[in-house]
Parts: sequence; C-alpha cells; structure tokens
Amino acid sequence: MRIIFLMLPVTVLLLLAGSCTAEQPAAPAASQPEFKPTATVKDIMDSIVDPNADLIWESVASTVSDKGIEDKMPKTDEEWAQVRRYAIALMESANLLLVPGRQIAKPGDKAEDSNIELEPEEIQAIVDNDRATWMERALVLHDNTLVALKAIEAKDAQALLFSGDGIDQACEGCHIKYWYPKDSEAVRLYEERMKEAAEAK
Ligand code: HEC
Repeated sequence: MRIIFLMLPVTVLLLLAGSCTAEQPAAPAASQPEFKPTATVKDIMDSIVDPNADLIWESVASTVSDKGIEDKMPKTDEEWAQVRRYAIALMESANLLLVPGRQIAKPGDKAEDSNIELEPEEIQAIVDNDRATWMERALVLHDNTLVALKAIEAKDAQALLFSGDGIDQACEGCHIKYWYPKDSEAVRLYEERMKEAAEAK
C-alpha cells in the first residue's frame, strides 16, 4: 500500500512533463511570419502607388485649349467603376507599406541623386528607429485616398478633383521626411502648403 502513495506524485510529474512536450509542436507554428513582404517599398511605389495615383489624378482635369475649356471626368458607370479600382489599390497600398519586415530597397540599391535624396539604408534606419512616424505618414495616404473613394462612390467629380490635392500632400509629406529631406525647396514648398491649408480651415 505504501508504495502506491509514493508512486502517485511521480506519476503526476510524468503526466505534467508529458503534457508540456505534447504542446511543443504548436510553438514553431506561432513563430511563422504573419506576412511575406517580398517586394520593397521602392517596388510598391513603382508598381502600385505611383501608377494608381496617376490614374486617379488623370481621371479628372480641366484643360484649356483653342477649343475652349474641356472638362475631363468619369461619366459612365463603367468609368466610375474603373477609377474606383485605382482608389482601392492606392488606399490599400498604404497598408502594404506597414507590413513588418518590408525593406525600403534591395541591398545595394543607391539613391539616384545623392545631393537631395537619402540612401535606402539611411531611410531604413530612420524608419526602423521610429516606426510610429512612418505609420502615421502611410495612414495619411490611406485617409486622403479614402476622401477620393467617397467622392467616387458619390459620383462627385468636383470632390474627386479636390481630393487629388490631398493625395499629393500625402506623397509629399512622406517623401520630404524620408526620401529627399535635403531638397530644401521641396521642404519649403510643403511647409508653406501645410500652413496655407491650416489657415484655410
Ligand atoms: C509612407 C511614406 C510614403 C508615402 C505616403 C509615399 N511614398 Fe513614395 N516613396 C517613399 C520612399 C521612402 C521612397 C524612396 C524609396 C527609395 O527609392 O529608396 C519613395 C519613392 C517613390 C518613388 C520612386 C520609386 C523608384 O522606383 O525609385 C515614386 C515614383 C513615388 N515614391 C511615388 C509616390 C506617390 C505618387 C505617392 C503618393 C500617391 C507616394 N509615393 C507616397 C515613401 C512614401
């Protein structure tokens, strides 16, 4: 009888040890990366952000020529649906910029004009040191594109035209901080523009 009492704690311990090892296979799954950021920030700019922003900006315009003032804007349902696709792509590209582990550029990539542009590794260091500011600038792109999306869904060409300025401000607000902060003219123009926007409110 005595021997059974002694054995009991040992059995409990073995069971506990067994349950620990049984849980282990779950651990590697938990450390799997949530995202697979293959393209760089530069790639996303070139493939998604820039082309879609251009298509939105080009969808509404007033052109003055010898034929008079020509207003270009989406007219048919299909044209509105098309510009909506550009806005969705641009708005969601802001989230792609926030994927953890996304690199600014490929290793060895160099700035085109080092007089005004930072090198990709300098940009990377600034982003890594202060992700909150990077996130904030990317979300301005999201929110200012949402203004365009709402204009599109309301089929309001005038509001869509105005929203283009907000999208451009989002590009500049990020670029003068990370890409070409040494371009003092670009920085000055951006600050002036923000001041005017604040005064207009
Ligand atoms: C959250 C920050 C951020 C926002 C917002 C942003 N960009 Fe960029 N963009 C960058 C950075 C950083 C680079 C520099 C990458 C590099 O060349 O090393 C860049 C580079 C670029 C390039 C050069 C790409 C190349 O192939 O060299 C273009 C074009 C561009 N951006 C367009 C835009 C446009 C248009 C918008 C707005 C619709 C925009 N970007 C919004 C951060 C941003």
